[in-house]
Amino acid sequence: VIRAFSTSTLHFHAVKTVTVIGSGLMGSGIAQVAAATGHKVTLVDKTKEIVDKAEVSIKKSIDRIVKKKFPDDAKAQLKYSTDVLANLNMSTDVLTAVKSSDLVIEAIVENLDVKRELFGLLDNAAPEKTLFASNTSSIPIKDIASVTKRKDKFGGLHFFNPVPLMKLLEVIRIPETSDETYNLLDAFGKALGKTTVQCKDTPGFIVNRLLVPYMVEAIRLVERGDASPRDVDTAMKLGAGYPMGPFELLDYVGLDTTKFIIDGWSKRDPENPLFKPSPILNKLVDDNKLGLKTGEGFYKYNKQ
Ligand code: NAI
Repeated sequence: VIRAFSTSTLHFHAVKTVTVIGSGLMGSGIAQVAAATGHKVTLVDKTKEIVDKAEVSIKKSIDRIVKKKFPDDAKAQLKYSTDVLANLNMSTDVLTAVKSSDLVIEAIVENLDVKRELFGLLDNAAPEKTLFASNTSSIPIKDIASVTKRKDKFGGLHFFNPVPLMKLLEVIRIPETSDETYNLLDAFGKALGKTTVQCKDTPGFIVNRLLVPYMVEAIRLVERGDASPRDVDTAMKLGAGYPMGPFELLDYVGLDTTKFIIDGWSKRDPENPLFKPSPILNKLVDDNKLGLKTGEGFYKYNKQ
């Protein structure tokens, strides 16, 4: 029997060096986890002030992790932090960073034009073998990838917030993504300690495609006067076993984020009733009641 021997060669070029672009909430988390799992990481943002701030927040996150991981062992705590930070390099020079990267993960602002401009520059600067991935939540990967000449080496790596704690990684293929690229991205995700799932380049991938319409349906239920947010949350926690109710989750994620996602989908697919805008959601965002981060959304919070 003749067997294909391609599978054993697929992992020859496993991802070892990574550039993460955008040192905000997601980029910092992705860089931290990649460094903690032995990858050489460069985390890039626009200014020194921004990357310095990101470094401080990563150090705080590592501190929390070591205290949990090694509660009474100061030596082990120090070793873990030192090892992670030794793998992490902060930079404002993206074109130099990508020159020595096996993989570039983009986690910048959710704006197609800005992402396309960045990937256009990267395509010229990065070696031919370098894989490109976007962490976008709501923009079609194909619309970003089409600015490059390496669509076969392009995919989506969609992480969840907070990245160090959330176990899932959605690995997204566009039609041009090669098997080798997909396998390398999937293996990279597993090397980060994540459980990976595969999805095509469809709105919201798996999690957000189900979660966002569910949350907006919860708001519509309240809009119709059928029940209160508090009772909907209690019902879904105790009746469906969800750890958070939809309104708690909306406030946690940020109402502006959910509005942004649903508006983008509704523009692309106006006939889909699940993607219809919601008056209550629009009003709260207009009033800057965005949830936890502004102190008020569907609920009120004590601002720290
Ligand atoms: P954020 O606003 O916290 O961070 C974005 C960072 O990108 C900022 O530090 C900004 O200075 C930087 N940036 C913007 N343009 C840049 C450029 N041209 N070059 C270098 N840096 C640039 O945003 P967040 O929440 O981390 O989101 C980033 C991406 O991740 C977005 O595409 C978003 O859709 C996606 N995402 C967000 C999730 C979330 O829960 N917040 C979950 C999964 C994906």
